[in-house]
Amino acid sequence: MNPFYLPTMMKSATPAGVLSALLISFSAALMSSPVQAQSGEVVGNADAGRKKASMCIGCHQIPGYKASFPSVYSVPLISGQSSKYIESALAAYKKGDRNHPTMRSVAGSLSAQDMADLAALYGSK
Ligand code: HEC
Repeated sequence: MNPFYLPTMMKSATPAGVLSALLISFSAALMSSPVQAQSGEVVGNADAGRKKASMCIGCHQIPGYKASFPSVYSVPLISGQSSKYIESALAAYKKGDRNHPTMRSVAGSLSAQDMADLAALYGSK
């Protein structure tokens, strides 16, 4: 298992604690600060998202980028879209409501927490 993944699995903290941890991790973005995942409601954490984004960057970080497998296609830029939109798009790929084969296999490997974290990272709000 990816060692970066472990902190996100530790349960702790109150919603207020999570919120301040979020704010701290925004400012300390590149440092590996501890990350809370709480039972129940899924709260996205951009810092955790950053550690999960390595598999997205190759396609989504580059303006105008076209991927070439299985055919040549354009990749939409996701940064700056709303977090809610990104999260629900990922959920729709996983569920099969959206049908792009590449994104379906990517999203299929993501948990709800992963999606929330990635949405927090890429989303504008
Ligand atoms: C192999 C290239 C590739 C990888 C890797 C990839 N994506 Fe995508 N992604 C695409 C393409 C192509 C689309 C457009 C699919 C469509 O038309 O439905 C897309 C669509 C999306 C959308 C919907 C965008 C919109 O405007 O509706 C989101 C959100 C998204 N990807 C997030 C991610 C995240 C998060 C990751 C990493 C976990 C990731 N993608 C990894 C190629 C990729």
